[in-house]
Amino acid sequence: MPPGAPAVFPSILSSMVVIRGDSVTAPQRLLWLLKPTLFLACLAPLALLAWDAWSANLGANPITAIIARNGRWALRFLLITLAITPARRLSGWTWLIRYRRMLGLFAFTYACLHAASYLVLDQFFAWRMILEDVTKRPYITIGATAFTLLVPLAVTSTKKMIRRLGKRWLQLHRLIYVIGFLGVLHFLLLVKSDISSPAKYGAILLLLLGIRAWTWWGRAMMEWATGALAAARRGLLLRRRAGVAK
Ligand code: HEM
Repeated sequence: MPPGAPAVFPSILSSMVVIRGDSVTAPQRLLWLLKPTLFLACLAPLALLAWDAWSANLGANPITAIIARNGRWALRFLLITLAITPARRLSGWTWLIRYRRMLGLFAFTYACLHAASYLVLDQFFAWRMILEDVTKRPYITIGATAFTLLVPLAVTSTKKMIRRLGKRWLQLHRLIYVIGFLGVLHFLLLVKSDISSPAKYGAILLLLLGIRAWTWWGRAMMEWATGALAAARRGLLLRRRAGVAK
């Protein structure tokens, strides 16, 4: 396989033809094709929503349906984005990381559509009512906080910002866990009786956080063990030099 080709692809693919004799292999081509395909797939919920709105298929309260659908997709894309790193670690599919930024930006896009449909369709820019909602209804306060926190993540998602911020970029982007938690809480607080739906999203979030915590803990233990081993070795060497140990 040529350098740069993902080692994870099935061997049948990696042994396929080298296109036009240059270094572009079939698996690489497949990865290029995957991006626009995924992009279109991410737009599908929006297209479906537009279609349902056009064909008056949004139920008795179309505005609520539009807000709810965009809200759910914002949360789903957030969780899918959070799942990329654990999925990459567990499967070894390093190429998955290429799609993380796009998925995160789709979470932001659906959150924008969700917030915009509330501002425009539900409240029709009644700023006083909106302010009252944000300050007096906890689920709106939490939703607005989650949305506000998403903004710096979207703004700093460019390659230039990643380079410029360095280590601080990683620290900033850990906010995604807080946003996921706030998104689930926002959903949980607005449901009246049946909490099964937000509970499912909460369970997925907890699972993803659990996998992260497990790998962090594993890495910390490994570092600690390596450090302890090196210290013990140094100690033994010193004692040998001093003639205490053999
Ligand atoms: C300014 C920010 C936000 C505002 C004003 C807002 C407002 C709302 C409102 C009014 C509803 C209730 C719709 C209904 O009556 O059923 C709702 C539902 C929801 N929102 Fe938000 N939200 C915001 C941010 C967010 C964010 C950032 C997320 C995701 C991360 C999110 C996810 C959801 C979900 C999952 C629902 C439930 C949908 C359902 O009932 O199926 N919201 N939001």
